[in-house]
Amino acid sequence: MSKIEINRLSDAIGAEIRGIDLRQELDGETVAAILDAWHGHQIVLFRDQDISIEQQRAFAEKLGPIGTRTRPGPKPPEAAEYGPDVMLVSNIRKNGVPIGSLPDGEMMFHSDTPYFERPAMATILYAIEIPSWGGHTLFSNSYTAAETLPEDVKRRLAGRKGMQVYEYGTTIKDKDKYDRENFPYYAHPIFRKHPTTGKSALYVSELMTEEIVGLPVKESDELLEYLFQHQRNTKFIYEHPWVPGDLLMWDNRCSVHARTDFPPEERRMLRRLTVEDEYPVLEGEPPYREAVGA
Ligand code: SIN
Repeated sequence: MSKIEINRLSDAIGAEIRGIDLRQELDGETVAAILDAWHGHQIVLFRDQDISIEQQRAFAEKLGPIGTRTRPGPKPPEAAEYGPDVMLVSNIRKNGVPIGSLPDGEMMFHSDTPYFERPAMATILYAIEIPSWGGHTLFSNSYTAAETLPEDVKRRLAGRKGMQVYEYGTTIKDKDKYDRENFPYYAHPIFRKHPTTGKSALYVSELMTEEIVGLPVKESDELLEYLFQHQRNTKFIYEHPWVPGDLLMWDNRCSVHARTDFPPEERRMLRRLTVEDEYPVLEGEPPYREAVGA
């Protein structure tokens, strides 16, 4: 087993794992230690990695089957060269056309693919080119967000589902409703139980959750706005300033992420793989505090 060191990235969420070279084949014990850290900290960071797409894939496959592209239409040729499982997150353009996805600017909080019946379990993002400022990824802890909700809000949300919808490519939602005729949507429990930790996470996001199923529109809108604001509490958040060679792996079942703005004229490129979930989305209980005796 590799000798590894695990250090917290913040009080809120995340840990850095040192002592691993992802160019090497990882033995079972090392993989188990990485998974333990990941389940405990929700996101893990490996710095100074110099890996090919094959090495990134070999690492992802230790967690489970790699997800494939779900968006309709052809991929930009540069991204297509890597294969159907890779998303280039990049603002680099050829003949004015982005070579990758999610090219520009700020992005609202979201998890990856919640609009499917079986959302991606993990996302593994590897930094290749990074601008001189901004383009940080923020991670918010969805366990803490669930735990710290006022008890009356927990009760109102207990057993409810959130409708997850997304028009591909949107980074800032500036319309009331996405087009459900042409884009995917799925309703998932608002409290989502993690199959490994058993903990409940708040499973909504500003970019992708449109309604609380079964509530009157006004009540649903007001509650969601409250939840989105709650998720933005800086006490729940770690902000990651990328450096080329960073590889971050996050757990979409118990965290949401967002992106800060960055200069459009500077190049940014990251290579993304997702890992499929072997479990269906599990319904969680609102995490009531013992002190209230609920
Ligand atoms: C993503 O949401 O997958 C992209 C995050 C980023 O560009 O930092």
